Amino acid sequence: MMQEWFEDAKLGIFVHWGIYAINKMGSESWPIAQARIGYDDYMKQMESFTASDYDPGSWAELFKQAGARYSVLTTKHHDGVALWPTQQGTPSIPNDAGTPDLVRGFVDAVRSAGLHVGLYFSHTDWTSDEHVSVITGQRKDELPALRAEPTSYRELWEQNASRDQSADSELAANWDAFLAFHRAQMQEILTNYGSIDLLWFDVMLGHKDFPYPTAEIRDFVHGISEQTIINSRLGAHGDYETPEQFIPVYPPAGPWELCVTTNNTWSYTGAESQYKTPYEIITMFTECLGMGGNMLLNVGPDEAGHIPHQQVQLLKTLGAWIERHAEAVYGTRRGLPHGYAYGYTSVSKDQKTLYLYLSHLPAGGETGIKGLRNEIVRISVLGSGAECPSKRIGGAPWLGVPGTLWITVPESGRDEYVTVLKIELDGELDVYEGKGKEIDVN
Ligand code: GLC
Repeated sequence: MMQEWFEDAKLGIFVHWGIYAINKMGSESWPIAQARIGYDDYMKQMESFTASDYDPGSWAELFKQAGARYSVLTTKHHDGVALWPTQQGTPSIPNDAGTPDLVRGFVDAVRSAGLHVGLYFSHTDWTSDEHVSVITGQRKDELPALRAEPTSYRELWEQNASRDQSADSELAANWDAFLAFHRAQMQEILTNYGSIDLLWFDVMLGHKDFPYPTAEIRDFVHGISEQTIINSRLGAHGDYETPEQFIPVYPPAGPWELCVTTNNTWSYTGAESQYKTPYEIITMFTECLGMGGNMLLNVGPDEAGHIPHQQVQLLKTLGAWIERHAEAVYGTRRGLPHGYAYGYTSVSKDQKTLYLYLSHLPAGGETGIKGLRNEIVRISVLGSGAECPSKRIGGAPWLGVPGTLWITVPESGRDEYVTVLKIELDGELDVYEGKGKEIDVN
């Protein structure tokens, strides 16, 4: 169920951590399904995954410093490897008596840093024979051969998708068994660690004849913890949408969250490249703010638990920008639709202050907003407090058509990345939505 904390939070940190950090192949556990490695070979990474320098307290401190208000850990990716000691008989880290419960460490640290706790949980599970048999259309006794060689589960799934298997009682039984297992694991992560604020589902591969009972899954989660938010990767039953790696051009109508990497991959590869610059990350973040969304920014630690230094640096730079502009971040709501301003805007919860994010400032320092009906109380640069002169030009206010508010942003006090203007209004935001008209009375 959607909660206000989520819509106020704006920034979360995603953590993609798993045994895939050993082979560093990128794409998390997808190499199994892409026939880049056989399942059995992939699983050998279990033996070398040490988590030896795992220090969730320092992660949580970093996330807090980044300005995040929540964090989401991959408790189980598509490989089916649980980062907690699952009792369901499938592979899990800890893999020996010396490894702690990684999920517990994360939850405790994140919670004690005052952040909300999110757990990622993949529906798709390449380890579950029952799941794999249903999506690939193979019998369970055919799976050992499939697992011994690189096999494209993905292709098998695509080929199998349109086959009529409605009368196949073996597959039906497999599917029921998988769904029971799926619930039992959800129950573990939702009950072992106190109250979980957010359950982040992923990738619902199934078969048309064996659908996921999505409404029942939602009710099951809420039966355990009513206040848990669920993302949209549960058919039509999630609380918010999750555009991935792409900032929507037009925002979803309701709550949403952009999940995005700092570079070109979710998981640790040791050779991450194409890092976004601080300017790009901050600009993207302000686009999310302007369209009323959150950003869930990813880190991908190595097998020992170190977050790559470039990611640490980006998080800190973002955090410093947020700290300078906290008022224009937390608790804001989506601002003016496209076309009103030369930049994205958000509005305070009481609707009386507009924040204009300026990623692009021309040399003269002028920017404008059209269609604003309110009187302006004051315009200033957030952070420095420098006053911004403004004037209104054009329109026909006596006919209800406001002109353009032109604002000059002084040189001093501009931000290194994105300057934010605080525009205090005489009342709640009031905008003109028409197309202008003939000025027949002057
Ligand atoms: C995609 C990928 C998955 C990744 C997720 C993060 O669904 O399949 O590997 O964890 O995106 O949003």
